[in-house]
Amino acid sequence: MKIISVANRKGGVGKTTTTINIATALAAIDKRVLVIDFDPQGNATTSLGISKSREQISSYDVLVGAHRASEAIVKTELPRFDLIPSSPDLAAAEVELVDVSEREYMFKKALQKMPQSYDYVLIDCPPSLNLITINAMVASDSVLVPLQCEFLALEGLADLMKNINAIKRNFNPTLTLQGIVLTMFSKQNNLSKMIEADVRKYFGNKVYETVIPRCVRVAEAPSYGKPILIYDFKCTGAQAYVRLAKEFLIREKEF
Ligand SMILES: Nc1ncnc2c1ncn2[C@@H]1O[C@H](COP(=O)(O)OP(=O)(O)OP(=O)(O)O)[C@@H](O)[C@H]1O
Ligand SMILES: [Mg+2]
Repeated sequence: MKIISVANRKGGVGKTTTTINIATALAAIDKRVLVIDFDPQGNATTSLGISKSREQISSYDVLVGAHRASEAIVKTELPRFDLIPSSPDLAAAEVELVDVSEREYMFKKALQKMPQSYDYVLIDCPPSLNLITINAMVASDSVLVPLQCEFLALEGLADLMKNINAIKRNFNPTLTLQGIVLTMFSKQNNLSKMIEADVRKYFGNKVYETVIPRCVRVAEAPSYGKPILIYDFKCTGAQAYVRLAKEFLIREKEF
């Protein structure tokens, strides 16, 4: 079982979309996948057509130790694809856990006790480096970073790498960078191309060759509660996510 945090401190860069669609593509080729919605916004949960209610057991309950991970798992409409939903309560976790000892390790401990075995666990992180994201990264083997090619993207990325290294030093020495995926790319935009060239220059083969284009259908899919691969398999965005999942597996030497 490999646990991967999908993270970037910047908001709206495609973390949730990338999490859900890599997971869908992996499940489609027989991998057993668990997505953990670890963002109080709950976008991964609603994008999968599952409502977020305070009554349902959520990633918050798992984090604070009120419930086991296995009790929080729900099935999605897709075979081999399970979810631990989010709850708005997660927003308060940071404050609630302030006095708890070893609070950075709480989620790691909870996931270690999970009896179910998955090939991949993908944690959709919130857009900040708070205690929730730290718990996700401490519980993870690697971090997958979606990046939008826009002004100052490289500075943001450098900061994120510092954060990841700090977590590595302090809490999780074996944490690695899974890769960087360029999202919402516009071919017509020269700035996007320049930034892509810079990111590739500095981060080399850590950057996936597959680039996710901006695609209206991708933006529509969440409101239908479906991953883009199910909503419109043929659109450019869905096809890019299929290629990304394939490249991901090739790099994992599983293809
Ligand atoms: N390739 C794409 N083409 C067009 N729209 C996209 C694409 N990828 C994502 N979007 C849209 O952009 C918005 C932000 O994407 P997403 O929610 O995946 O980002 P995020 O990083 O998870 O955001 P947050 O930081 O708020 O959690 C969403 O409305 C999503 O539907
Ligand atoms: Mg998100």
